[in-house]
Amino acid sequence: MTTADIPFRELPSVTTARSAPRLATLIGMAVGPSGAVPRQLGLNRRALEQHGFAGRVGQTMVIPRRDGATLVAVGVGDAPTPGDLRDAAAAFVRAAGRHGVLACDLVDAGSSTQADASAVTEGLILASYRYPGITAKPSMSSSIESVTIFGSASTRPLEAGVRHGSVTARAAVLARDLANTPPAHLNARDLEVIALRLGREYGFGVEVFDEDALAEMGCGGLLGVNRGSEEPPRLLKLTYSPRSPRGHVALVGKGVMYDSGGISLKPSDAFHVVMKMDMSGAAAVLSTMTALRELRCRTAVTGYLVCTDNMPSGSALKLGDVLTMRNGKTVEIHNTDAEGRLILADGLSLAVEEAPDAIIDIATLTGAAMAALGPDVAAVLGSDQRLIDRLRNAADSTGEPIWQMPLESGRYRKLLDSNVADMRNIGGPYGGCITAAIFLSEFTGDVPWAHLDIAGPMKVDGDEAWRSKGATGFGTRLLIDTVLGW
Ligand code: BES
Ligand code: MN
Ligand code: ZN
Repeated sequence: MTTADIPFRELPSVTTARSAPRLATLIGMAVGPSGAVPRQLGLNRRALEQHGFAGRVGQTMVIPRRDGATLVAVGVGDAPTPGDLRDAAAAFVRAAGRHGVLACDLVDAGSSTQADASAVTEGLILASYRYPGITAKPSMSSSIESVTIFGSASTRPLEAGVRHGSVTARAAVLARDLANTPPAHLNARDLEVIALRLGREYGFGVEVFDEDALAEMGCGGLLGVNRGSEEPPRLLKLTYSPRSPRGHVALVGKGVMYDSGGISLKPSDAFHVVMKMDMSGAAAVLSTMTALRELRCRTAVTGYLVCTDNMPSGSALKLGDVLTMRNGKTVEIHNTDAEGRLILADGLSLAVEEAPDAIIDIATLTGAAMAALGPDVAAVLGSDQRLIDRLRNAADSTGEPIWQMPLESGRYRKLLDSNVADMRNIGGPYGGCITAAIFLSEFTGDVPWAHLDIAGPMKVDGDEAWRSKGATGFGTRLLIDTVLGW
């Protein structure tokens, strides 16, 4: 897959039908830990249990037959939530081997909701994701062409759920592709081209600010970080404006296309290969924008993608340098690897000027967030508890776990004190996720604001439920859900 293909990638199609299509070669059936076992499986509960299948979420058992499609018992647990169904659908897809045409009976017309069908659809599409890579031979992208959700008259809520889940999953796949793409194949100008194409395709405006415009605007943070790079920076402003909107939310994404650390160079250990993913926040914001028109979002949304490399060179930012940010505040540089907050400062300042109802920023900001919460859970901090609670609720329903950390400005703001500027860009050795957020809070004015630090969950080291190895697209569905529910 080349960069030009990213916006138009083919995904498995998910549809509903009364019964499994004749062409399906693999059919999944929901089985709980108790109660009836679908007769078609040809095995009773005891036989399933003898083979170690207990009906738990994530379990599958493939049952070959002499004639007809291969069957799969898909564990769904007791009284499955949408989250359980997303994971069960993902497990089904992971059991599919080389099968291309699939069908599954995981929702029920009588009792299942739109949220159930949407979650199943997301699990099917997201678990079948493979990053195709850039290889000589056409690579091992997923073999799955289509999945039919059957077993019911396709009721309106189920069809609406499948449509919804197809859109949110497609958006998250886009975020994954962008983050998985190597840095030389996706710089700030490449992202501009992609954003312009996506804007035309999915109905949002794209305004581009290049280095001259940024200088005129006084975006000293973004220009400062960009100083060491051969590649010019870009600030992309995306606007989705529905008729008579009921609210306005601004989303700000960190778009560090590659983070070398700058003069504070990162050590060259294997861990840093993933710094091509340091634009995962910007990818989540851009991907969110692609879903809004199709999901008939009634909230106006403005997205800011703040994009540059962080590189060392003769012209790079030095320790001790002082930058003046868009809102006039000055920052003394103590570590050039704390670059995300410098570029977000300008993005946040610009967002504040539009006086939205809320600002949410999303960034692969600190290793400290990962140290605190582990690799799977994102940190959320901010100035407005209602906004944070909205995000926590959205995270519960999309299955993207976040955990609130305290901002503690009163206690820890002094860790950012500088002798020569309004603040320095790093705090002390401890509480790095918090001091980073306090730094950001200096640029959010009086607008209710929340910050998502996704350094941990931006990637996963191996396939795990709906998350496939590599970039996860974390935050995309969470942001979509948040603005839809505004
Ligand atoms: N992009 C990194 C944070 C990161 C680390 C994301 C690991 C994903 C995985 C960020 O720019 C960074 O380098 N942060 C520094 C801040 C420090 C210098 C205060 C960090 O966390 O070490
Ligand atoms: Mn860094
Ligand atoms: Zn970074």
